[in-house]
Amino acid sequence: MKKELVIVIDFGGQYNQLVARRVRECNVYCEIYSYKTDIEKIKEMHPKGIILTGGPNSCYEEGAPTYSKELFELGIPVLGLCYGAQLMQLVLGGTVEKAPVREYGKIMVHVETSSPLFKDVTPDTICWMSHNDYISKTAPGFEIIATTADCPVAAAQCMKDQLYAIQFHPEVLHTQEGKKMLHNFVYHICGCSGDWRMDSFVEETIGQIREKVGKGKVLCALSGGVDSSVAAVLLSKAVGDQLTCVFVDHGLLRKNEGDEVEAVFGPKGNYQLNFIRVNAQQRFYDKLAGVAEPEQKRKIIGEEFIRVFEEAAKEIGAVDFLIQGTIYPDVVESGLGGESAVIKSHHNVGGLPDCVDFKEIIEPLRNLFKDEVRKVGLELGIPEYLVFRQPFPGPGLGVRIVGEVTAEKVRIVQDADAIYREEIDKAGLNKTLGQYFAALTNMRSVGVMGDERTYDYAVALRAVNTVDFMTAEAAEIPYEVLQRVMSRIINEVKGVNRVMYDLTSKPPGTIEFE
Ligand code: XMP
Repeated sequence: MKKELVIVIDFGGQYNQLVARRVRECNVYCEIYSYKTDIEKIKEMHPKGIILTGGPNSCYEEGAPTYSKELFELGIPVLGLCYGAQLMQLVLGGTVEKAPVREYGKIMVHVETSSPLFKDVTPDTICWMSHNDYISKTAPGFEIIATTADCPVAAAQCMKDQLYAIQFHPEVLHTQEGKKMLHNFVYHICGCSGDWRMDSFVEETIGQIREKVGKGKVLCALSGGVDSSVAAVLLSKAVGDQLTCVFVDHGLLRKNEGDEVEAVFGPKGNYQLNFIRVNAQQRFYDKLAGVAEPEQKRKIIGEEFIRVFEEAAKEIGAVDFLIQGTIYPDVVESGLGGESAVIKSHHNVGGLPDCVDFKEIIEPLRNLFKDEVRKVGLELGIPEYLVFRQPFPGPGLGVRIVGEVTAEKVRIVQDADAIYREEIDKAGLNKTLGQYFAALTNMRSVGVMGDERTYDYAVALRAVNTVDFMTAEAAEIPYEVLQRVMSRIINEVKGVNRVMYDLTSKPPGTIEFE
C-alpha cells in the first residue's frame, strides 16, 4: 500500500502532533520524525512534502536543534512553522534575531493572496503568534508574503525551490484560516491528491491482516477501552474465530462495565470471536488488602493482571500473534525518548509480551490518532457508547480510591460515579467535558442524617478539560448540576455523607487521584 506521505520534522514544539493531525484531516497521511532523523531515511520515504515544527529554542544559539542545508535541496516542498521558519531562513542565509516586540496570541496578519500558500485566504486574517525571535532578513531568493504591525516577515516564500516559511501557527485553531493554508500547502504546493481515508484504511488493514495471519491463532487482551475494542473488532472482521479475546474483570471497573463489554463481545454480541471473561475480582481484592501506597497498588494490579492473563492464555495454548491497541501518540512518544520523570507507572497491556508465548505482535492502530481510531470504530459499527467512552486508566478504580481498596469502597465509588455520569449526560455536558469521574477520598467525617450522627466517606467529583492529558483545567460545571449530583449521591449511596468538587488543575494535581 503506497500512500502519499507528508512528514513533520519535530523541533520540540508543543503543537507537533497537532500539525500531523491537521494534515491528516486534509486526507493526507502524515508522520512525525525527530530533527535527529538522518536525511537518507527521509529520502527513502519519498515524502510529497516536509513540515518543520516550532520549538522552544533560539535557532541561532549554539547547540540549538538544526538540520542540514541538504534538506532544502531535495526538490521536495518544505514548510517551516515558527522555529522551523526561522531555522529555514538562518540555514539558507537569512538573519534571525531577538524580536524588538514579542508577539503572543491572536494577531492580525496581512497576507499576499497571490501566493499559493494563501490561495482563497482573506488578505487580513487572524493568526496565532507565539515568538520571541523574528526573521529580520530573509534568505536570498525569498520574498515576503505576510506581515504584521510588529513582524516584517510573518511569512516568506521561494517559489522556485518550493520553500515556505510561516512565523505563526496555522495548525492552531486560533489561526482562523490555518486549515486552509495547510490544505493549500499539501494540495497546491506538494501536489497531494488526498488518498488517506478511514473507509479505505479499514478495508486495506483487514486485507493485510488476513495475509499476515493466514490460518494462525490470534490472542487479544481486551479491556473494553476504545483502542483495544477497535483493534479486536478489526481482527475479528479479518480472521473471525481464529481470534480469542481475553477480558479480565479485575473488580475495579466502572459500574456494569464488565457486563457491557461482555454484551458486545461475548457470545450474545455482534462478533464471531472467542471471548473469555475471567472474573478475578476477589483475587485482586485479596492482593490489595492492607495496601495503601499508590505505586505499590499500581504494581500489584499490573502484575496480577499479567498473572491472570497468562493463566487464561495457557489454557488457549500456543498462539501465533498477540494484538496490541498501541496508537500513534504512544509510538511518537516512545520514539522520541523523552527523559521525563516517572510520575506514575502506567499500567497498560503493553507489558504483556514478556509472559505469553507468541510469534509476533500485531498493532493494527499504530499509525492512528485517537480521533481516527474512533472514526474506524464507527466505520466498523461498534456502538457509540463504546467508541466515545471516557478514558479509563488500566488500574481502574484502584487509582480512584485513595488508600486501601476494599470491595465495599469499590461499590461506593461505582455507585457514586454512575450517578455523576448519568447527571452529566442528562445535562448534555458529556460531549463538552474532557474527562469526569467520581473518586473516593479516604476521609471520613461527621454528618447528620435524620437526627442521627453519621461518620461516613467523602466522595470527590472531578471534571477536567484537557487537550493532551498532560495539562488540564478543572471544568466549570453548573452549580445546579453539582447540587443534584450531591443530593443523589448522599441519598442513594450508602456510606457517603459528604460530596466535594475538586478544583485542582494539572499541574500541580494529576487527573487521577493516585
Ligand atoms: P494523570 O492521572 O496521570 O492521568 O494526570 C492522565 C491520563 O492518563 C490516564 N491514566 C492512565 N491510563 N494506564 C492508562 O492507560 C494508567 O495506569 C493510567 N493512569 C492514568 C488518566 O485517566 C488520564 O486520562
